Amino acid sequence: MINASLLSLSISVPSIDTEKLEKFEWRNAYEKVSEERLKKSAAFAENAPKLKPVIAEHYVLSGDLADGLLKQLPAKLLEREVPVVIYTVFKADGPSQLILHKDWGRLSVINVYVEAQGSTTTFYEYDRDNNLVQNIESFCAASGEVWAMNSKILHGVVFDDSSIRTMINFAFRRQTLESIIQLQ
Ligand SMILES: [Fe+2]
Repeated sequence: MINASLLSLSISVPSIDTEKLEKFEWRNAYEKVSEERLKKSAAFAENAPKLKPVIAEHYVLSGDLADGLLKQLPAKLLEREVPVVIYTVFKADGPSQLILHKDWGRLSVINVYVEAQGSTTTFYEYDRDNNLVQNIESFCAASGEVWAMNSKILHGVVFDDSSIRTMINFAFRRQTLESIIQLQ
């Protein structure tokens, strides 16, 4: 089984001024809850990455900005489901990580890496009995690349050094990674 796939899509992303957008606070609230839950499991796993958390900002896009991005997705995919469009900014101050998690409220996601900055996304399997996580798959996206990934497998992102990473996320509630690959 694969959990991430480079798509043959090219999506042009206009410059986005976050000053004019409202932060998606609900998602931030979720991340706090998620962190609590993970303290009881994988975040404390013996061999999980232990780096300080990256700062994550999420903005839900709407109107012309969202429409301009959505219309670049394959029509067949949009016929199945119109995804939520999110603009994400990760700010890493030195080596840091997006803590291991499973995405809430979505089955799969298409990520458009606007400024990728060489960060690495890794999928894990959690061995509860031994409190160990096993690295099952990793990818390091380049700027401009478009990847689809399975949101329901435990994953985290490691940032090697200070950087700002920006990306567009198309979040799907009902499409699997396999259906996105088929419909690209
Ligand atoms: Fe995630």
